[in-house]
Amino acid sequence: MTGEGSIPLLTPYQMGKFQLSHRIVLAPLTRQRSYGNVPQPHAILYYSQRTTKGGLLITEATGVSDTAQGYPHTPGIWTKEQVEAWKPIVDAVHAKGGIFFCQIWHVGRVSNSGFQPNGRPPISSTNKALTPQIRSNGIDVAEFTPPRRLRTEEIPQIVNDFRVAARNAMEAGFDGVEIHGAHGYLIDQFMKDQVNDRTDQYGGSLENRCRFALEIVEAVVNEIGADRVGIRMSPFANYMESGDSDPKALGLYMAESLNKYGILYCHMVEPRMKTVGEKSECPHNLVPMRKAFKGTFISAGGYDREDGIKAVAENRTDLVCYGRLFLANPDLPRRFDLNKPLNKYIRETFYIPDPVIGYTDYPFLEEDN
Ligand SMILES: Cc1cc2nc3c(=O)[nH]c(=O)nc-3n(C[C@H](O)[C@H](O)[C@H](O)COP(=O)(O)O)c2cc1C
Repeated sequence: MTGEGSIPLLTPYQMGKFQLSHRIVLAPLTRQRSYGNVPQPHAILYYSQRTTKGGLLITEATGVSDTAQGYPHTPGIWTKEQVEAWKPIVDAVHAKGGIFFCQIWHVGRVSNSGFQPNGRPPISSTNKALTPQIRSNGIDVAEFTPPRRLRTEEIPQIVNDFRVAARNAMEAGFDGVEIHGAHGYLIDQFMKDQVNDRTDQYGGSLENRCRFALEIVEAVVNEIGADRVGIRMSPFANYMESGDSDPKALGLYMAESLNKYGILYCHMVEPRMKTVGEKSECPHNLVPMRKAFKGTFISAGGYDREDGIKAVAENRTDLVCYGRLFLANPDLPRRFDLNKPLNKYIRETFYIPDPVIGYTDYPFLEEDN
């Protein structure tokens, strides 16, 4: 990049043992092109297009077990076949000098029996059903099967699924994992008091509601080492009917508790993001959590170039995650560097199964620009 170092977003950053050359991170982006839950060869081109030397990339949400899915064609990392299928994708990112983390995921009740083994109900912290939601294309309605509340003695098995997924991610060659604790999925269903109505040691107090998340963190840390573990959370979001009555206390408690495990990074979604894609004005920000957490802090949600520059310059974050802009601009760091216009993202093709359209066909800047 010609102007490297000229803007704060393009300054180097040492994240644990990883030497990053800039602060622009590829956000985890579900693309629903992994047929049969197996990553496909077209993902090699997709991720390598978005790789820069010393850039950090996070994969799309990747299921930890056969009960973890809630959407068509999302990848997993619980079978040998899936692990093998990830390998050439990881290799391609590494060949270009990228640092690649796998986002490990369980949807919990954001599912229906059609995605579950033997048509069983999805699992959750609760048996409260989710009301039907308009899909992101704005037309279709997603229907959910009322979930089954996990029994206390079943919880260690789910924690173990995350541990095994992390080990599998190492086997596939990833540099680390990001535990998906955001956006109303299983971990969030335990953390948020709008959802969690348990009376055992995993429900009630803030400490109890965060126990499941922290047990997963501990298990994953023990398996692959704290220096390869990050977690993503969205304490302020109420996506998938998963809100909390005191999100700041939740975010702070998690940030402080994570310090005990010495994990690599804490990745939080800005309070202005009401859903995964809807931005609104909001009086809250992530600064208290950024101050409380001792490792690398990553902020996400609604950032553009100027906003990202400001956040890094004011030390409100270490790294900035870009979702939709990076999806539509495979050379986003270069465009930011040169301050060039951006391609517009096409919402209609976010989640279609096409291996090319809306996936690997967004144009790069012309070389002579
Ligand atoms: C197409 C699409 C897929 C997404 N998939 C995921 C996902 O798999 N995991 C996740 O944590 N967030 C996911 N998100 C949320 C993004 O990571 C990001 O937080 C959000 O898009 C807001 O950032 P942006 O304004 O830079 O796009 C997704 C968002 C979009 C638009």
